[in-house]
Amino acid sequence: MTVPPSPGEDLPAGSTIVADVEALAHAAAARTVAIVAATEGERIAICLSGGSTPRRLYELLAANVPAALPWGRIHWFFGDERMVPPDSPDSNARMARDALLSAAPIPADHVHAVPTVGVSVEEAARAYAAELAGFYGSETLDPARPLFDLTLLGIGEDGHTASLFPGKPAIEEDRAWAVPVPEAGLPPQVPRVTLTRPVLASSRHVLFLVAGATKRPVLTRIARGELPAARVAAASPDARWLIDRAAATGVSP
Ligand code: 6PG
Repeated sequence: MTVPPSPGEDLPAGSTIVADVEALAHAAAARTVAIVAATEGERIAICLSGGSTPRRLYELLAANVPAALPWGRIHWFFGDERMVPPDSPDSNARMARDALLSAAPIPADHVHAVPTVGVSVEEAARAYAAELAGFYGSETLDPARPLFDLTLLGIGEDGHTASLFPGKPAIEEDRAWAVPVPEAGLPPQVPRVTLTRPVLASSRHVLFLVAGATKRPVLTRIARGELPAARVAAASPDARWLIDRAAATGVSP
């Protein structure tokens, strides 16, 4: 079931409801494959989400559809990262590596991880911003030439996305490409680096993955245009939402 983009709905515009987390992962994999297939040019840039929801999608991309993706053309980035060693269970890069990046035929220099060791969180944010601008070929984003082809995002129960938390300065940042987030305010309580709203939104397609009844209350607020996730969606040319039935109804299966 797809919710049409009309204001006042209690789900965000561009929402599709699917049965459960497994169906969500399959729908997201199908959408990823379709977007990649429609992307022309030598390089394809995909920005990955952290959190736990996308893990199954990553596994499906690595295991079930390897022939469907032109692995040699795709570059992988991260919307945010926790300042933990790359082998920590809290590392977003580690989750993506375990589920996808090391399981698929991906050239090592196509994985663009946030540096987290031997640097301060400020230095990490600056280094990652420079890495992104180097890939893009400019320090100024051109709306006609988005940085990413696809950005995958999740949401927290407080309405954060990536590490753009409500009421914290990072969500207001509109110049820097990546910023430090000294206090996450949510577990894991470690500093983070996050891409900023204009950078996450500089993407041909943005796909939010939302699962579980605990996300229901915040979806209603996001549908009203509130909270960081809604602000990223509003800035994106094509924001879609894949929502499982539990998150859409607030009722656990
Ligand atoms: C992170 C994230 C974050 C995440 C949401 C949803 O590093 O924590 O990138 O924005 O996507 O908190 O997380 P879940 O998928 O675990 O619910």
